[in-house]
Amino acid sequence: MEKRIKGFSKLSKQAKMEWLAKAHLASPESGLALLESYMHQDPKVQKRHDEFIENTVGNYYLPFGVAPNFLINDKVYTVPMAIEESSVVAAAAKSAQFWMARGGFKSTIVSTTKIGHIHFMYAGDSAQIASLFAKIVPKLKEATAPITANMEKRGGGILDIQLKDKTEALKEYYQIEVRFETRDSMGANFINSCLEEMAHVLRSEAASDAATAQSTLEIVMCILSNYTPECLVCCEVSCPLEDMVEGTDMSATEFAQKFKRAVNIAEVEPYRAVTHNKGIMNGIDAVILATGNDFRAVEAACHAYAARDGQYRSLTHCSTENGTFRFWIEIPLSLGTVGGLTQLHPMVKLALEVLGKPNAHALMMIVAASGLAQNFAALRALTTTGIQKGHMKMHLLNILNQLEATETEKEIITAQFAKKVPHHAEVVNAFYDLRGIPNPSATH
Ligand code: MEV
Repeated sequence: MEKRIKGFSKLSKQAKMEWLAKAHLASPESGLALLESYMHQDPKVQKRHDEFIENTVGNYYLPFGVAPNFLINDKVYTVPMAIEESSVVAAAAKSAQFWMARGGFKSTIVSTTKIGHIHFMYAGDSAQIASLFAKIVPKLKEATAPITANMEKRGGGILDIQLKDKTEALKEYYQIEVRFETRDSMGANFINSCLEEMAHVLRSEAASDAATAQSTLEIVMCILSNYTPECLVCCEVSCPLEDMVEGTDMSATEFAQKFKRAVNIAEVEPYRAVTHNKGIMNGIDAVILATGNDFRAVEAACHAYAARDGQYRSLTHCSTENGTFRFWIEIPLSLGTVGGLTQLHPMVKLALEVLGKPNAHALMMIVAASGLAQNFAALRALTTTGIQKGHMKMHLLNILNQLEATETEKEIITAQFAKKVPHHAEVVNAFYDLRGIPNPSATH
């Protein structure tokens, strides 16, 4: 069947599903049945999901888990996580438990400023545009008054407006750089709306000013920046070195030193830093998704921040001075607990309720703790038993589920692999041996 289609977005949802199944699936009936089986039983809830995006043809489930016992600034949280990767939730819970017994996580908000830009080109003299800008700042602010009024009531608004001459980097390129405080909202719509209003003022004022009207001024775009190095949170754990007990043959001090070396490697070696930070993002993204925030924005900001001095480095740091083990993270997190999906997605609402309806500051601290906990668990495993032991336990379950093993078969095979790493082929062999049938994938 023809895979090109005109007017797809205008079709009804049912017609979209049918076309998709017929045009792309080997068995359209079973494909359609699968899509239908993933719809929410309450049509009102399903409609809400349908309307989050365009061309919805189904739901895509991710497991929703919780990591209890997160002690953050002396308050206990059960942290919701939406993630498909096995062992992330277990690792977070294990770390949370470990640090709960050692005073928990201490988190602080460093700053909450967000930045947006009007990117524009000006062909004239830079002194002329600077003089125009100085004159129109009050008008730029005035133009946004209808948008900022509500935000100001909540303690937010525009903090600062500056003209940036970027002509050394790119001929004729300037920015109006605006700083915002958006309180408990992530603020993307607010920021972009303010910038677009300001851009109208810039365009018309430049056209009616005797000096700047002689040269072309072109607004290229108005957009917030997802790089948020001024919206920063810190989180740390610490304990006496001798409390770093580990169920291995290493002493607590040896373990702490080895752990620190692993962090040091990620601070200087980008190949390791990317994997190290990916592990941190396992914890961060899972909470971001569960709480209806934008994980792409957070990913982009965190990785840019990790490379802020020109080399990509670890987002966490460690010290073992004066008999104390300290492990900390400093990351840019622009999050919201109002607006966006937070009031719309029923599971997001539930996740926020589980967290005690946090404001944006509290959520930033929780997310940072989750990233630090995840990194702690990964480095602890990597520097002691190796990562495969924990990973493969969950992996074993995934292999057995793929083979459609019964609960009893799962129990028997899990017991067989209790003390060894379950390599895929060995698990498959064990499964077919148990059923007493030949392994269809075995080579003879
Ligand atoms: C796997 O998803 C994450 C780790 O590779 C992180 C790390 O190596 O630090 C285990």
